[in-house]
Amino acid sequence: MEIVARSTNPLTLKTDCLVVAVPADNPLSATTAAIDEATNGLISRRLEGKDITGKCASTLMLHEPSGINAKRLLLVGTGAEAVSSKDFLKIASTVAKQTKNDAIASVATTLTEVELEEHDTRWAAQQLAQQFVEASYDFNGGKPQPSSKRKLKKVTLLCSDKKAQNAAQTGLTYGHSVGIGVNQARLLGDLAANTCTPSYLAKHSRALARKHKNMSCQVLSEKQMAEQGMGSLLSVTAGTEEPAHLISLDYKAGKKGARPIVLVGKGVTFDSGGISLKPGAKMDEMKYDMCGAASVLGVMEALADADLPINVVGVIPAVENMPSGKATKPGDVVTSMSGQTIEVLNTDAEGRLILCDALTYVARYKPDTVIDIATLTGACIVALGSHASGLYSNDDELAQSLLKAGQNSGDRAWQMPLWDEYDQQLKSNFADMGNIGGAGGGSITAACFLSRFTKDYRWAHLDIAGTAWLSAGPKGATGRPVPLLMEYLRHCAAA
Ligand code: BES
Ligand code: MN
Ligand code: ZN
Repeated sequence: MEIVARSTNPLTLKTDCLVVAVPADNPLSATTAAIDEATNGLISRRLEGKDITGKCASTLMLHEPSGINAKRLLLVGTGAEAVSSKDFLKIASTVAKQTKNDAIASVATTLTEVELEEHDTRWAAQQLAQQFVEASYDFNGGKPQPSSKRKLKKVTLLCSDKKAQNAAQTGLTYGHSVGIGVNQARLLGDLAANTCTPSYLAKHSRALARKHKNMSCQVLSEKQMAEQGMGSLLSVTAGTEEPAHLISLDYKAGKKGARPIVLVGKGVTFDSGGISLKPGAKMDEMKYDMCGAASVLGVMEALADADLPINVVGVIPAVENMPSGKATKPGDVVTSMSGQTIEVLNTDAEGRLILCDALTYVARYKPDTVIDIATLTGACIVALGSHASGLYSNDDELAQSLLKAGQNSGDRAWQMPLWDEYDQQLKSNFADMGNIGGAGGGSITAACFLSRFTKDYRWAHLDIAGTAWLSAGPKGATGRPVPLLMEYLRHCAAA
């Protein structure tokens, strides 16, 4: 899909669908008023007739409007005169979905010009581009959709002048990349667990690195992980036939020698619970237990696509968690790469067991910051539902930056505590710690567990158990938190 910014006249532009903003209880903007006049009052008549009210994200499709060169005119309500970020995102996503239609190959919109409460044209163009790319996602059985089958070929963001056009161009280029990253994360998440195995993730990562000149890939085998002393990670893969891999993707487009930001993504390609077997209901959804890894791969793809000048390393511990005669048993004691011992009280608390070794391993990159992303706990869904990811950090400035990135991208997180009282719940009689924290605060005690392995650097943890996929309406991976991370990294690269 081609997305461009233009400062051409919307009245004369040839397009399959022109999308214009209609406010509620306010005079039409100059552009909308000009289209209204050219179409002999088409828009004001529909407003008078109450076919559209201007309520935020309400729409009305008008066919064959006379007086302009567009084949269709899509009116979209923007509500208040100055639109909030949240409302604009809702509008952008609605428009992108409504124009996904076999008859529409080109769309143009003046939404870039809408007055925003907190943001500028660059931001608006970024969000519009991202939403159009996201709306083009078709799972298609995991096979790439041939581009000839994709209907929407061209999106034009109309701007009032050259200055706005330049700002929009900057935004839409980045938004396009973010959209690609989101869709990549969704595709990997939606793939069945018998396709998307640890080896599949390794193969995908190698191919990604081959495609981009700034990226390299390294994959450690189980033997190499054993040499590193990763007893905790390896205890999770003991029960499965699928070989585990520790994947590192190194993206170097920033200043030479600048410390990288390291992203660590939980890559459990299927989580049966192991010997602490999960109940049957919805167990299929545990194919999504690699969505942290998928978000890291989505970010790496988006970074390379955007050519963002920054150094980022993506690290993915990829394993399958299965029961068998060789599987780790409740009560087994394992030694992590850090030397700390862990009593595996529940083999279903496996995410932290692979992450702790990956988090120890990444110290070798001398990171500026480490962020791990994991579908870590059902308890996080109890706490925050599916609207916010759980955020934990040992650095308040980092936490604030991530919260802000979540706000600005509409991919929000909410900060949770890492208090010592919760950490105490991890006490074990037989090892340095247990891998579960007992009753209450399950998302917090999981984060406290990880924090015992991240003392040497600035670190944040995102628990995306509730946000990475939706179980219904329709079921599927969301690609979160790729937008949050890309907003954070854009900020880091600019600083
Ligand atoms: N992958 C799950 C967490 C999860 C469950 C995410 C449901 C999304 C939906 C994780 O490995 C797990 O099983 N966690 C346990 C921890 C418990 C045994 C302390 C959980 O949340 O029940
Ligand atoms: Mn589990
Ligand atoms: Zn899991």
